[in-house]
Amino acid sequence: IIPSNASPDDFPQCLSGSIPSQLVFAQSSPSFTSVLVSSIRNPRFFTPATVRPLWIVTPTNASHVQAAVACGRRHGVRLRVRSGGHDYEGLSYRSQRPEAFAVVDLSSLRAVRIDERSSTAWVDSGATLGELYYAVAQASGGRLAFPAGLCPTIGVGGHLSGGGFGTLLRKYGLASDNVLDAVLVDARGRLLDRAGMGSDVFWAIRGGGGESFGVVLSWQVRLVPVPPTVTAFRIPVAAGDGAALDVVARWQEVAPALPEDLFIRALLQNRSATFESLYLGTCDALVPVMGRRFPELGMNRTHCREMSWIETVPYFFLGSGATVEDILNRTTSLSTYAKMTSDYVRQAIPRRAWDGIFGKLAQPSAGLMILDPYGAQVGAVPEPATPFPHRAGVLYNIQYVSVWSAGGDGAAHIEWVRDLYAFMEPHVSSNPREAYFNYRDLDLGENVVGVDNISSYEAGKVWGEKYFVDNYERLAVAKAEIDPDDYFRNEQSIPPLVPGN
Ligand code: FDA
Repeated sequence: IIPSNASPDDFPQCLSGSIPSQLVFAQSSPSFTSVLVSSIRNPRFFTPATVRPLWIVTPTNASHVQAAVACGRRHGVRLRVRSGGHDYEGLSYRSQRPEAFAVVDLSSLRAVRIDERSSTAWVDSGATLGELYYAVAQASGGRLAFPAGLCPTIGVGGHLSGGGFGTLLRKYGLASDNVLDAVLVDARGRLLDRAGMGSDVFWAIRGGGGESFGVVLSWQVRLVPVPPTVTAFRIPVAAGDGAALDVVARWQEVAPALPEDLFIRALLQNRSATFESLYLGTCDALVPVMGRRFPELGMNRTHCREMSWIETVPYFFLGSGATVEDILNRTTSLSTYAKMTSDYVRQAIPRRAWDGIFGKLAQPSAGLMILDPYGAQVGAVPEPATPFPHRAGVLYNIQYVSVWSAGGDGAAHIEWVRDLYAFMEPHVSSNPREAYFNYRDLDLGENVVGVDNISSYEAGKVWGEKYFVDNYERLAVAKAEIDPDDYFRNEQSIPPLVPGN
């Protein structure tokens, strides 16, 4: 695929015919570092030892991306695509092993075009979720929303590629479930829409993970109706006398079976739990539902915060005092180091086991667990319909989160996550032990590149079947269709599989 006489050094010269020089940054450029860190969230992957790109290309139109692919292939430079830079392992801007690569940073491609009449929008991959939510709320007078993640600085490109869920998950499914069309630059540099890429690839890009199939430039998405007034609440349950254990044990049975308008997640830290909820209706309507379905939480009118849906975005993610305009803020700071991983629970964990889990949450260097309920719409989609396989029968997703600041004992924090993950094994899904692609964790396994310079399908099963279960094989077949040479790859990209091989 890459000519044997290729020299990465010729990559910028090749680009110069097609891309203005001010959009290409070599390591020697004075702006290189500031462009590189502009969307890095996790300083674990910004150290002197980090394998960095040799160049960063910041396209402002599709032809620039096509040129980067053509020149990259000609001169032996691989491309890593970055939209919002939130990848938990930093794979959009760094490599685990030495490699000649460039980052295609899509942050300048971030238009949002809304067609209110058809309740659809075209959104470029470099837009943030906050920019999308804001534009939708403005254009529809708060009548419409989009079901995706809670953090407003997440990039549309990576998020929609890997699934994407937030407070509207139970009513409207994943972000990727609501994609109607997309524009992709493939490994041959072609610009393809849904019809052009074909049904297998269009299936694969909606949840099969970023980087594997090419560069998705923009997405047409279905917008969803929300009522003018929704109700949020946040209820902490303190540790005393095992109260938090009782309510969490009960939550597991209740939350995935609630009406689809009601989303209640649980955040566990120390020996306490906090329940955060979004109800698509008024406080008057919510209180009797809570009394009937989940009396153990003791929710009453004083807990209700009535607001518009767009106001729930800063409420849930940015904390008190934040405004709706704050969700447009893209600035990032290199202050928080993080290690995450995930699990799925299909059978409620017995009350007695929660004692041990809360014990882990009380250890020094402990982080937290976030439990997001599934059921309703997300569970109603048949498993083969999209690459995302965690559907019927899943009660909830667990995210294990450990964060620390500079000077903190990173090794101890990472060890805590690994130890808790091992401890949880008997209580979570098995054969395979499922994980959420967008909570990427390289501890689950990495690709092995064979002598043919192609990632091995067999070796990729170790991580691929955790993220995609039975859909892993079909993803590999779609990869072989669109990128048989494995040009677009990283440590957890889908390897190509030619059927019959
Ligand atoms: P980034 O740009 O780092 O890309 C992620 C991966 O996709 C990389 O492999 C990259 O190469 C590839 N990629 C990016 N753009 C592409 C494109 N246009 N075409 C092809 N490939 C592309 N998730 C969730 O579901 N719900 C949530 O509430 C949250 N909350 C959350 C909070 C915080 C603080 C973080 C850091 C992360 C989350 N996430 C999340 C996880 C998030 O959904 C996940 O990290 C996404 O992949 C991030 O997308 P970005 O575009 O920002 O990442």
